[in-house]
Amino acid sequence: MDMFLPPIRGTTPTVNKMADKMVNKTRRPAPMPILEFQNVSKIYNNTTTALTDVSFSVDEGEFVSIIGPSGSGKSTILRCVNRLVDATRGEIIFDGHDINRANKKELRQVRKKTGMIFQHYNLVDRLSVIENVLHGRLGHKHTLTGVVGYYTEKEKENAFQILAKLGLTEQAYKRCDELSGGQKQRVGIARSLMQEPRLILCDEPIASLDPSASKVIMDHLSVINKNMNLTCIFNLHQVDVALRYSKRIIGITLGKIVYDGPPDQLGKEKIHEIYQSSEGELITDVG
Ligand SMILES: Nc1ncnc2c1ncn2[C@@H]1O[C@H](COP(=O)(O)OP(=O)(O)OP(=O)(O)O)[C@@H](O)[C@H]1O
Ligand SMILES: [Mg+2]
Repeated sequence: MDMFLPPIRGTTPTVNKMADKMVNKTRRPAPMPILEFQNVSKIYNNTTTALTDVSFSVDEGEFVSIIGPSGSGKSTILRCVNRLVDATRGEIIFDGHDINRANKKELRQVRKKTGMIFQHYNLVDRLSVIENVLHGRLGHKHTLTGVVGYYTEKEKENAFQILAKLGLTEQAYKRCDELSGGQKQRVGIARSLMQEPRLILCDEPIASLDPSASKVIMDHLSVINKNMNLTCIFNLHQVDVALRYSKRIIGITLGKIVYDGPPDQLGKEKIHEIYQSSEGELITDVG
């Protein structure tokens, strides 16, 4: 029996009371939105419209992929969340905070709770793996302790545990420029986990990796999402990967959402609409 189904109600108040108690104990709490975009628009330099009236909401624990052609606004969406880019209009609510109105202190909190994984890893190449991973704690520290590289024993222990989970124990003391792309990306994941984030934003995390390293990265992020109930939002160029791993896909064309739904309802025609292409023009049409 599905453990989340409510028990059958009885005929006496006592039985019903017990049944209600069981429901309360066994039912999963309803997921809460962790991120909401409400009519968000972004115009760069008063000239380039990157987003127009983008609205969507992501619940805690979701694994969402954003797909769309180059220049459609995918990175702009992710950058608006941690204010690397300021939205021109609209509201962005993250974990109860209105991002656009956040003061410096609030913005620091938002960034602390938001891990970011980049296509080109954004590691400090001349530093060791463990040092890069510990950098994930910087948002939790006063500037001075961060600058002198002071980390607690607990933080170091935690960093090594995360490295072990990502299969990087042997690389811990290597310089990052000695690593393969797949290893570097795993360091990027480890660093963002050190932040203890509420949300991980992944901007083309596998765009520079071969198919095998890509699978390792996507599998790790999928396990992290499931085991830690950690919300992940991806920008992906690989439609097949988005279809395979995500429970929800957002399709964006010229800065507007044209699809928001499960992968199994994203048909060929819709994919062509998102990419503004005709049959035979996409790699997904091959085979
Ligand atoms: N800093 C910027 N200044 C001016 N225009 C920008 C800036 N960043 C992005 N744009 C423009 O905004 C639009 C959306 O860009 P964005 O980088 O969000 O697209 P994308 O979907 O992530 O593309 P890609 O798939 O190539 O990474 C594009 O027209 C781009 O040229
Ligand atoms: Mg981009």
